[in-house]
Amino acid sequence: MINKALEAYLEQHSSPMHPVLDEIYRQTHLQQLYPRMLSGPLQARLLDLICKMLRPKTILEVGTFTAYSTIAMAMAIQDDAHLITIEANEELEDTIIENLNKAAVFHKVSLKIGQAATIIPSLNTSFDLIFLDADKMSYPMYFDLLLTKLNPGGFLLADNVLWNGKVTDASAQDAETNAIRLFNEKVTDEPSVEQIILPIRDGLGLIRKK
Ligand SMILES: C[S@@+](CC[C@H](N)C(=O)[O-])C[C@H]1O[C@@H](n2cnc3c(N)ncnc32)[C@H](O)[C@@H]1O
Repeated sequence: MINKALEAYLEQHSSPMHPVLDEIYRQTHLQQLYPRMLSGPLQARLLDLICKMLRPKTILEVGTFTAYSTIAMAMAIQDDAHLITIEANEELEDTIIENLNKAAVFHKVSLKIGQAATIIPSLNTSFDLIFLDADKMSYPMYFDLLLTKLNPGGFLLADNVLWNGKVTDASAQDAETNAIRLFNEKVTDEPSVEQIILPIRDGLGLIRKK
């Protein structure tokens, strides 16, 4: 895994994000109990550049938290593109709306508050890009659900697929680690996709539907 010094070096040599994201980063660290859930500047820059490369028209995010990654993507997509983001924790709703307005991207985003497993099947859109970043236990189930919602040629980005390096530690047998392992196996064995795991931050699966 990348150590702290290398991560700092990567950040110093990646273009900075919009100042509003720095503000949300600080505010999340002051106000939220688990600020580490926020993906951070390096991943935000990667999401930004992926959006600029792919120019997706329809984007789905599973796991909004304080809308940091939502905003990174929403700022990078074109005005006629639309992003749906799903968050289970209704206590975050006001913060999410406030942050989307602060970043002036609310017109490109639909926020759905509720369980992803219920909301995903109810969506009658298919997506060019999906960012999966919610409860790890459900990753294997989300893979099945999301594959049906992904357009051919579309990309699924799955965060935390190295789970702090625990995926290769045979002594780590907790339920979340095993769920991430199962997810990675399912993706590897699925003939309709091709994938690479990028060792950025906690591991980002880059999965393309053929
Ligand atoms: C790691 S955080 C998302 C971080 C965000 N994508 C970012 O990069 O800043 C995961 C979020 O998923 C939400 N979540 C957890 N289980 C969920 C579920 N079953 N359905 C929808 N959201 C869920 C959590 O409440 C949390 O806000």
